[in-house]
Amino acid sequence: MKKHDIITNIKIEKLIFGGSGLAIASDGRKIIISGGAIPDAIVDLRITKSKKNHLEAQIYRTVKKSPLEKAIPAEWQLYGGCKWLPIPYDKQLGIKQQQIIEAFHSLKTETAETNWHSIIRSPDSENYRNKVEFSWGKYISEREGMHDNYRFGFHVQGQFDRIEDCWYCVLADELTNQIFRDIDIFARGSDLPTYDPKTGIGFWRHLVVRRAKKTGETMLIFSVNGNWESEKVGIIGTKEQFFTEMVQQLSEKYESISSVYFLENTSRADVVQGNQVLLYGSPTITDELLGLTFEIQPKSFFQVNTLGAEKLYQRVIDSIQYKGGVLLDLYAGTGTIGILLAHQFSKVYSVELVASSSEDGHKNSDRNSITNVEFVNAKVEDFAKAFASEHGKADIIVLDPPRDWLHANAIPHILAFGAREIIYVSCNPATLVRDISIMLGRDMSHQTIDIDATEMTGGETPPQDKKETKILPLYRISDITPMDMFPHTHHIETVVRLERL
Ligand SMILES: C[S@@+](CC[C@H](N)C(=O)[O-])C[C@H]1O[C@@H](n2cnc3c(N)ncnc32)[C@H](O)[C@@H]1O
Repeated sequence: MKKHDIITNIKIEKLIFGGSGLAIASDGRKIIISGGAIPDAIVDLRITKSKKNHLEAQIYRTVKKSPLEKAIPAEWQLYGGCKWLPIPYDKQLGIKQQQIIEAFHSLKTETAETNWHSIIRSPDSENYRNKVEFSWGKYISEREGMHDNYRFGFHVQGQFDRIEDCWYCVLADELTNQIFRDIDIFARGSDLPTYDPKTGIGFWRHLVVRRAKKTGETMLIFSVNGNWESEKVGIIGTKEQFFTEMVQQLSEKYESISSVYFLENTSRADVVQGNQVLLYGSPTITDELLGLTFEIQPKSFFQVNTLGAEKLYQRVIDSIQYKGGVLLDLYAGTGTIGILLAHQFSKVYSVELVASSSEDGHKNSDRNSITNVEFVNAKVEDFAKAFASEHGKADIIVLDPPRDWLHANAIPHILAFGAREIIYVSCNPATLVRDISIMLGRDMSHQTIDIDATEMTGGETPPQDKKETKILPLYRISDITPMDMFPHTHHIETVVRLERL
């Protein structure tokens, strides 16, 4: 079996984390299947990679549909961002729960006494996203005979220069879909070209729609090519004037539009960035989470499933048994978790790398009259060293690191704080299990570590006798709770409670 071969009548055994399907080839090798795999379907596959221990393949043809597969309503659109739409929501939850159990397989002994909680479902399985990023672009393919110069929707999976049109995004709410359609008509009629990432030429790049679920406020962020000069724009006036007319029409039609930004992006990178100009309304929108209010700027991090985030945060709050003392909210974003927990602690440190997020957090705590949260704009690994030498101890630690990892250098310091409980919120089961293995001493040869005072004092060489040896506190995994924040996608959130022995 080699690359490009077609293998027939293969049964998809299950879905693995990342959303790929898994099957077994006739020679016993595992096959990792991309392209909308559904368990129990019988498919023909085209091999894309042939390795010694496994094959990679794409679905070429479905021979027999999976009995799990349900028909999706005709008006819904199935695209790369919601690949699991044909799988009934309850089944999706079962698959995710099972994936978390399997992820912890290597910690079987350590989880023998753990309370395994049922996966928490998202309150809404459709229309749950409060932020959607649409892209303008093209679809040009000689092979397929396609020469479509105007496309508005989402990237074809894995292709930076091809866009598939969106007609109804089932993850976005109704109003986002309506506003999107109106802007589509406006942009098509403008005669301004869509951006081509290959040449850097073109005008329209991205539209971001942000909605505050509880207050209904809506923010629009238009991103256009900052290097674009055209007669058309010149005739209408400045680019800003051009947008002002469109925004006026939109805001008259949709009362909830309360903030509109215009972003001139001069970079070739496919990210929403650049010089931002407020064209209309207020600089921020405001949303609520568990009774507190939060301001959202165009670039603020805010969980995209508002009602799901409330469930997640409530799970974190309920997981913490000890009240009082010092709480460290590490990888804090805009400090939401620390702010929600502040009344239970004498002091909260909210540590975040991105300065604007820390600033947002500061404003949000003021807004909610919370005075005991200190916002620290720093890398967790640097903060951990400094905090260890200044204070030494913390009572509760909440960790919510980015997808890739908790910084390995931070782990010994985090452990040395001796917290009674560590609540680890993770969006990546693989790194979660790896980090917890390290925390439980699985990857260490013994239960003591040397913390060199050089690290603790930020580089000054300490006298030899200041080098100290600390005994690692030992933790046990007391609770594991999977949580579905992203229905119809393969993503899973997990809350793990570690308890000091
Ligand atoms: C999953 S988000 C946290 C979200 C936040 N707890 C919330 O619920 O709103 C991870 C955060 O970690 C931040 N981050 C990434 N690397 C970091 C580091 N080395 N030190 C501190 N923060 C970091 C990111 O900027 C991001 O805001």
